[in-house]
Amino acid sequence: MMKKFKIAVFVGSLRKASFNLKTAKALKALAPGSLSLEVVNIASLPFFNEDLEATPPKEWVELRKQIAAADGVLFLTPEYNRSVPAVLKNAIDVGSRPYGQNSWSGKPGAVVSVSIGNISGFGANHHLRQSLVFVNVPAMAQPEAYIAEASGLFNDAGELINGSTREFLIKFMEAYAQWVEVNVKK
Ligand code: FNR
Repeated sequence: MMKKFKIAVFVGSLRKASFNLKTAKALKALAPGSLSLEVVNIASLPFFNEDLEATPPKEWVELRKQIAAADGVLFLTPEYNRSVPAVLKNAIDVGSRPYGQNSWSGKPGAVVSVSIGNISGFGANHHLRQSLVFVNVPAMAQPEAYIAEASGLFNDAGELINGSTREFLIKFMEAYAQWVEVNVKK
């Protein structure tokens, strides 16, 4: 039987109607059978504060476990003021600590940025990649995924209705599945 890889999905928007979340749901549906995607809840993660490490908040412990249990990590990020939203950066920081116990290390990753504008979250996408280098997540280089003008891509039920975006995301997930297979921690 084909091995199933567990992919933890991190969405940098907490809005119910988030286009990043809608894209995450589309990716879950379009992903090849070798990947199983689950969105990780980062909404109530307390801000990282090293003083709390003596008795870490239960949400930190849970997040670290969820990252550790995943074979790969997939990020969907909006762009806030040309960078990564604080909620997503906080999750990266929490997962990278306590010092010497970086849960992210070696998990094959990928980045998708989704914006209602037409620069497609490029700034956030690349700021995120900068952090991923430091936490030792090998992030797939190609294809890059910049999803522009997202408000026109979904119907009222939140389903992806744009054919060319759908075709692109299928190819993107096929490439990511190969990336995971080659780079998964042995
Ligand atoms: C934005 N938005 C935005 N868009 C963009 O392309 N570049 C940017 O720098 C910003 N900056 C920004 C800052 C803040 C505080 C907010 C709230 C929004 C717009 C953003 O792309 C839009 O709100 C998306 O809909 C956010 O993604 P979700 O929530 O739909 O996933």
